Amino acid sequence: MTLRVTVVGTGYVGLVTGVCLAHSGHSVTCVDIDRAKVDMLTSGTSTIYEPGIEELLAGGMASGNLTFATPENGWRDLIGDITVVAVGTPMAPNGAADLSAVRTVVAALAEAADHPFTLVMKSTVPMGTGAAIRQRYLDDAAVRIGYVSNPEFLREGKALEDWFKTDRIVLGAAEEADLALMRELYADIDAPLVETDVASAETIKYASNAFLSTKISFINEIANLCDCIGADIDAVSRGIGMDKRIGSQFLNAGIGYGGSCFPKDTRALDFIATLNGYQFTLLKSVIEVNNRQRLLPVVHVMRALPDLHERSIAILGLAFKPDTDDVRESPALDIVPLLAEQGATIRIYDPVAAELTVSGATRVADVWRALEGASAAVVVTEWHEFTELDWARVREVMTGPGIIYDGRNCLDAAAVRSAGLTYMAVGRGGEHRAAENA
Ligand code: UDX
Repeated sequence: MTLRVTVVGTGYVGLVTGVCLAHSGHSVTCVDIDRAKVDMLTSGTSTIYEPGIEELLAGGMASGNLTFATPENGWRDLIGDITVVAVGTPMAPNGAADLSAVRTVVAALAEAADHPFTLVMKSTVPMGTGAAIRQRYLDDAAVRIGYVSNPEFLREGKALEDWFKTDRIVLGAAEEADLALMRELYADIDAPLVETDVASAETIKYASNAFLSTKISFINEIANLCDCIGADIDAVSRGIGMDKRIGSQFLNAGIGYGGSCFPKDTRALDFIATLNGYQFTLLKSVIEVNNRQRLLPVVHVMRALPDLHERSIAILGLAFKPDTDDVRESPALDIVPLLAEQGATIRIYDPVAAELTVSGATRVADVWRALEGASAAVVVTEWHEFTELDWARVREVMTGPGIIYDGRNCLDAAAVRSAGLTYMAVGRGGEHRAAENA
């Protein structure tokens, strides 16, 4: 059955949602207040970097299933049978999720609606938000507005795969009519449905991201311990990951998680817990470990090169992970200013990441310009290009000890060392071996 769907917000989640639902055959209108974005999308150009999205965008527009609009002529005619809210919930200065965009959109929809519809919340909102929205905006609306919490679990760079081959679809609703409509919406996706109440669905989203973040901080703690005792984190991760109860994913040690979700959602969950009178001790430690982990390259480079004045340092990678241009909460944003403060000259190279001025550093257009004359290089993002570097040539262009700090444990340590460079990593016996190399 073709449903008339509106997606509000054409950011990362909203755009992926819109093009994927159009691909499934629904009639989709994506709405955004940003006229420039709507114009760009209407011309067939994606506003985000995501493998495969341009094709789905073109297909949706060619079939007539996908259109874009601004709400400048009012919301009434834009409201679909299903209206998905996918606007941003950025982090407020106190760590809470800032719900102002969500509130503005929900208020406008409730005010304008002249026919019943189901409001689907895809923005990540704290537990209790659905209940508060119902009470404040929906209960008194002129028409029936159903409410469904339907969190997303999309990874940047793999969003389309995560959409169509998702592990599960989470639907939180109070009424069967809304759930029935949602089953229609996702009829072509072969995935188990988790049907529950709104608060539980909201909790599943935060708990998933908190658990994955915990896995990363846990393995990073083990990696740090490996450095203290001379064990090898690669073997340890492999060994524990083979236990199916643990699982092998999300056990890559390094300088910690970044991006638009984990840092924001872990802090928001901590805030929600505190607000509800609960001290989520474990989560606080996960956040603290991650904050500390990203400083490791600074600590070790400064220890190895006590005077950074008149030294050059190469930062390899700016994106928070490979195959994305996203620099939000990237460890590089913390590492660079600290090294610059010590007087180092910093050159950053990233093959894709968005144009961004990082205070105290110069962006360069190729990896060799970053490495030229550098005493140390910090790998922040595990781009394929870095794992394939010609290490003999790297040794020739770098000066002094030629420190390679592998913040993602992604390089062939033996190849780097045998080129005569000083290899450091996280839990790969870095400090011991670095000392041996020195
Ligand atoms: C994440 C979740 O995976 C997704 O389900 C959710 O909806 C949004 O947040 P994303 O932010 O795209 O997706 O990135 P992801 O691939 O999960 O990686 C997050 C961060 O963790 C990256 O900085 C990555 O480098 C880091 N990471 C991941 C590790 O440090 N070690 C690992 O083993 C895995």
